[in-house]
Amino acid sequence: MANEIRKCLFPVAGLGTRFLPATKEIAKEMLPLLDRPIITYGVEEALAAGCTEMVMITGRSKKAIEDYFDRSFELEHMLKTRNKTSLYDAVVSIASMAVFIYMRQHSPLGLGHAVLCGEPVCRDAPFGVILPDDVMVADPSVLAQLIAVQRERGGSVIALEEVSPEETSRYGVVAAEIAGEGVYRINDMVEKPGPEKAPSTLAIMGRYVLTPTVFSILKNQQKGAGGEIQLTDALRTLARTEPVWGVLYRGRRFDCGTQPGWLSANIQLAMDNPNLREVVLEALKISGNPQPGR
Ligand code: G1P
Repeated sequence: MANEIRKCLFPVAGLGTRFLPATKEIAKEMLPLLDRPIITYGVEEALAAGCTEMVMITGRSKKAIEDYFDRSFELEHMLKTRNKTSLYDAVVSIASMAVFIYMRQHSPLGLGHAVLCGEPVCRDAPFGVILPDDVMVADPSVLAQLIAVQRERGGSVIALEEVSPEETSRYGVVAAEIAGEGVYRINDMVEKPGPEKAPSTLAIMGRYVLTPTVFSILKNQQKGAGGEIQLTDALRTLARTEPVWGVLYRGRRFDCGTQPGWLSANIQLAMDNPNLREVVLEALKISGNPQPGR
């Protein structure tokens, strides 16, 4: 059957205050994870899931994202005249990865509001949502795992991960019953509950496939946790009228939304890369044996 989920929405309007001063002038999604910006991993995941249109919900100071996914004629010309063929190919291929659509979120009113900003382009069919701070390494891609469940069962689908009770206050947490291997039917959900209020330890992880019904709910959504319009609250309402499935995804997640998480992701991915593994091991050896005078 043809894959009709073509659009993937990326909320990228956040200010990146956890990475200041690095993010004073550049978007946090443009920070490098090894050799490419964090946002690229999300786009590659969506492409691997069959999406061809990337809908970026941006805000002020995010121009670098638009420029990154565009052609850069001066750079291309320079690389070509210097015979840097592989770099030239890498740079040219970025703009042809997909169609990129940019919508502005004028005020930082929350994740639910960011998703609502995508309504004009996403209202016709189910669409993916990727929160790019969570970099997922998986095969098939995590979004592809969710789309497979959506094709089979319809409705909306959310990626889930088992967390410890101390961690529930960092995530949306679901009440769900098992419906198949690694698949849950979600009945209820709460945004960032403390352990005493959490309905389970199954937490929502930055990947969704949503039906356009969510937009009509988001339009009337009141502010929730943190004074923000929460996607979790809208999905809670959605689950009363349409099926909302949860998928215990298979893969590795790197939380690049915090400095320690981002640093750890760089080290772990470098260890996976045969060209960089030795560099990391050598650097760790040096830091374990400080030079005299340091
Ligand atoms: C958002 C969602 C939350 C989810 C989390 C995953 O929260 O609101 O339900 O568990 O992403 O990363 P945020 O991290 O934007 O505060």
